[in-house]
Amino acid sequence: MPSERVDSGIPGFNELINGGFIPQSQVLLSGEAGTGKTIFSLQYLLQGAKDNEPGLYITLDEPEVNLAWNMRNFGWDFDRLAQNRLFSVYHMNVFKEGNVFEKINNEMTQIEEEIESVGARRVVIDSVTAFSIWTGDNQLLRLMLSSTLDLLRRKHCTSILTCESLHNEASRFGVEDFLCDAVVMLYMMPQLRALRVKKMRGTKHDKAIHPYEITDKGIEVDARQQVLWEAIKANQ
Ligand SMILES: Nc1ncnc2c1ncn2[C@@H]1O[C@H](COP(=O)(O)OP(=O)(O)O)[C@@H](O)[C@H]1O
Ligand SMILES: [Mg+2]
Repeated sequence: MPSERVDSGIPGFNELINGGFIPQSQVLLSGEAGTGKTIFSLQYLLQGAKDNEPGLYITLDEPEVNLAWNMRNFGWDFDRLAQNRLFSVYHMNVFKEGNVFEKINNEMTQIEEEIESVGARRVVIDSVTAFSIWTGDNQLLRLMLSSTLDLLRRKHCTSILTCESLHNEASRFGVEDFLCDAVVMLYMMPQLRALRVKKMRGTKHDKAIHPYEITDKGIEVDARQQVLWEAIKANQ
């Protein structure tokens, strides 16, 4: 793999995107509940830890116990990684009282401090859809997402932002996909999971839909097989 790419840690996925994510790009990972966004994100951070690139997992709606389940389920030893400061978790509190602008500013400051304190090169925000608890479905969400992306870019992080989509749409509020540099879609049908790279600025990428599996080792993409768009549409 060319060293100028960031290894996603997902077997079969790097070859769809010309070797890996573009350094310092901001990737939206969209899919309905249960498609595997959290697992994908954790696997991405795990790869970072293996590559000596510290990762910060910012969670808005994953309770601690779910995280622990995921880790144990896949045998990922995040405790050891945390001790070595290669992985850390920040719980963003979106339920605080007070002025919404103040809250956003406070959280941005906290996140900046976290990134600096662990020297995070990889960041995950799971999910940006939960920003709407504060902002509602309006311009404020766009503002909050923009300032988050500005911060991640300023800190030179390569990031995954998850989006809880509905009906296989790329975004929930019509802005997330425009603001991010790349969009990866996860689809789920009763018998099949499939993934598509919808956009990726600055690189050529595979346009087809490919099946993926979640196993005891995490997510694995089958880059050789393709799924027809009709199969996805039939489930919308
Ligand atoms: N060991 C495993 N083997 C197979 N599938 C699994 C395993 N662990 C979790 N899953 C699948 O992953 C799903 C949860 O993935 P998750 O990343 O939490 O989804 P999302 O964040 O998109 O809601 C579960 O609903 C289950 O179908
Ligand atoms: Mg999740």
